[in-house]
Amino acid sequence: MSLSRRVFILGGHTTPFIGKRHPDFIWKRHPDFGKRENPSLEEYITTATCGALEATGTPAAEVDKAWIGNFVGELFASQGHLGAALVGAHPDLLYKPVMRVEGACASGGLAFASAVESILAGTDVALVVGAEVQTTAPARTGGDYLARAAHYSRHRSIDDFTFPALFAIKNKAFLDGEGTEEDLGRVAVKAYANANRNPLAHMRTVKMSLETASNASDRNPTFLGNEELNPYLKMSDCSQVSDGASAMVVVSEEGLRKLGKTPDDATELLAATYATGNLYQDGPPLRLETTETAARRAYAAAGVSPGDMGVAEVHDCFTVTEPLMYEALGFAEIGRGHHLLREGRTEIDGDLPVNTGGGLIGFGHPVGTTGVKQILEVHRQLRGQCGDYQVNKPMKLGIAANMGGDDKTAVVTIQRG
Ligand code: CAA
Repeated sequence: MSLSRRVFILGGHTTPFIGKRHPDFIWKRHPDFGKRENPSLEEYITTATCGALEATGTPAAEVDKAWIGNFVGELFASQGHLGAALVGAHPDLLYKPVMRVEGACASGGLAFASAVESILAGTDVALVVGAEVQTTAPARTGGDYLARAAHYSRHRSIDDFTFPALFAIKNKAFLDGEGTEEDLGRVAVKAYANANRNPLAHMRTVKMSLETASNASDRNPTFLGNEELNPYLKMSDCSQVSDGASAMVVVSEEGLRKLGKTPDDATELLAATYATGNLYQDGPPLRLETTETAARRAYAAAGVSPGDMGVAEVHDCFTVTEPLMYEALGFAEIGRGHHLLREGRTEIDGDLPVNTGGGLIGFGHPVGTTGVKQILEVHRQLRGQCGDYQVNKPMKLGIAANMGGDDKTAVVTIQRG
């Protein structure tokens, strides 16, 4: 999809991502247990929406249309029909056209892509929200809910933790090849170190050393029930079960004018492309071919190449996904993604910083929120708004890659600062 109208991201708001091991997360050993509760899905949608409108100086009445990305509100929060829930976030959104979009963990990215397509068709001011709560159920029950992003009838029996097991298959293939446990450990260490600088991150207070991340131990156990796969996945390899929301305002040139803004107040979107794989067929374990396809389309639409990227957000749902993402986005040749980690090139002070706020492993992964948060993170980096984790080098372009299921839906976006 090449952009027939100019599209700008004005900014937005991300809530803290919280869950187990976050100091504000209420559970039975928290001093506030019984006195207050964790925010609900409803509260997250409202906080992110109102925060984004306020941060961008957008009166709710000026919003033409809105989208909300969410994967499984029905299961974790007993709430569907989230377009109407988004309208409840502000009185001036009443009767606006609003749509909920679902594409598993790429729900947020698809919500954004839908808003962009609408802008190309004439919409001027769009609101995009991603929201998910997941801590309302035990991790094992959550594993069942999230398994609906895989081919449930075929994959569910692999393990109670279906997605961790599906990615343990990739870890095994990676370790059977050239990759090492230390390479996987480097992804986790970078994610936690970046999260430690990010006040919104789920893992902002948790430290992770390479020694801990590279070895199974009491502190970092393997946990899969599937005996064959169990040795190949540790807790530190996993993204977090998080609650949180993110929202942003996306506009046309006319939308900028309506809101009294100029292109200098925004980042410009150069591409928003997506690709969809076949749910019923498994791809090769060490290729993300759907993401590769979406990325090729994005570079072609934007007229840029991987080497032009100054910063990236990639979908690190498990440690092995990150080097595979480097390959899918063309940062490294197939089979060589982990060399970028060994050379430190994707750390905050490297030449291509990736997942600077901690990614899904450190920042957290409220699944339907992630795609929106990633795009907003690239926007914030390009505009110098990332505080303690701001990249300290000139950057023109940034890319985000959001993935649903095991590389079944992929959304790739490129922005210019
Ligand atoms: N020693 C041994 N085993 C332990 C342990 C320890 N110290 N601590 C935990 N475990 C094991 C136990 O088996 C435990 O289960 P039970 O308590 O039910 O017996 C299990 O691990 C889970 O323990 P917790 O409930 O304490 O774990 P947790 O809440 O800290 O969760 C996690 C840890 C299971 C890794 C969880 O964070 C997780 O599931 N992460 C992955 C989330 C996920 O899959 N997200 C989707 C990614 S895929 C994607 O992005 C694409 C898409 O479309 C879905």
